[in-house]
Amino acid sequence: MYPKIEINLNHIIENTKKVAEMCKEKNVTLAVVTKVFADYKPIVEALVENGVKCICESRIQNLKSYQSLKVEKWLIREPALCEIAEVVAYSDLSLNSEKITIQALNEEAKKQNKIHNIVLMYELGDLREGADKEELRELIKESVTLSHIKVKGIGVNLSCYGAIMPSRENMQELKELVEEMEKEFNITFDIISGGNSTSYEMIKQGKIPKIINHFRMGEAVLLGNIPCIEKPISDLHQDNFILSTQIVEVKEKPSVPRGICGEVDSFGEAPKFEDKGIRKRALVNIGKQDISLNSIKPLDTNITVLGGSSDYAILDVTDSNQNYQVGDIVKFELNYSGVLGAMSSKYVEKEIRKD
Ligand SMILES: Cc1ncc(COP(=O)(O)O)c(C=O)c1O
Repeated sequence: MYPKIEINLNHIIENTKKVAEMCKEKNVTLAVVTKVFADYKPIVEALVENGVKCICESRIQNLKSYQSLKVEKWLIREPALCEIAEVVAYSDLSLNSEKITIQALNEEAKKQNKIHNIVLMYELGDLREGADKEELRELIKESVTLSHIKVKGIGVNLSCYGAIMPSRENMQELKELVEEMEKEFNITFDIISGGNSTSYEMIKQGKIPKIINHFRMGEAVLLGNIPCIEKPISDLHQDNFILSTQIVEVKEKPSVPRGICGEVDSFGEAPKFEDKGIRKRALVNIGKQDISLNSIKPLDTNITVLGGSSDYAILDVTDSNQNYQVGDIVKFELNYSGVLGAMSSKYVEKEIRKD
């Protein structure tokens, strides 16, 4: 059935082994961010069978579903107060920056007779989750007094909201912060989690301060790509996911709609059209309900994705060497957000390639 996402599991495993090896050489621990698989177990099971020791998920439902897997499980989205019981039950560790949440985790852990591990998040410039230095100090002070919470370390997240890259300066800032907190509280943190895939090159080049000993990586491992700078990693595979769709209509049509134009399309965006005359267009059976159409790139480079709606992607196939017909399959490369969309959509079939 189409649409279908084909997954090259062997390539994903090879990438994972290579990145884990590189991290080991540089004395940092790798936690693989598996959230992009959206609870599709065969891949996560294979990663665990092939040596992955820690997986990171942002949805607690996925960790619940993976509970029988023998792997350390991190919740990397800060827990919501409505899910505290599940967080304590199904994650080994969560990232946190709010006192009220940590207190709730402690109360719940007491009930479940468990110790819940936390990494406290410091805001290093990307402006998503994380406390500033003063708040972090308060969080440590409070957390170390809680009977069922163990503060495992300090973490930062970069390159997600503000597209801030790791640098000598911000890594130094993290190092100095950790040293100050360790001295002040007379503790040694086990984990200093310094970021994600955008740190790949600094790790490889040995430019990460020694105290930073942990990274959570998704895209670098799973797509062989460094996000924010969109740089393929030379010794890793990039062709790990291909989306196949089927053509449901092929017709010649004008390139500019006719009639009285409203202000916005069905997704609230102002449409723009370039008049290229009559063009051959194909509709394929995937749409914005499944995937962002900016995240798909046709393998036939003579096809342009014009746009679409919930259920269709509209393609200009005029310049293609192939004479596309209804029923033909059009394949696409996906970026990280495309993989996330396709894996999350129940309308997209998942298939592991055997080669
Ligand atoms: C907290 C956190 N850590 C790590 C990651 C992994 O990011 P990347 O895929 O860029 O390695 C993400 C995003 O998925 C995240 O939200």
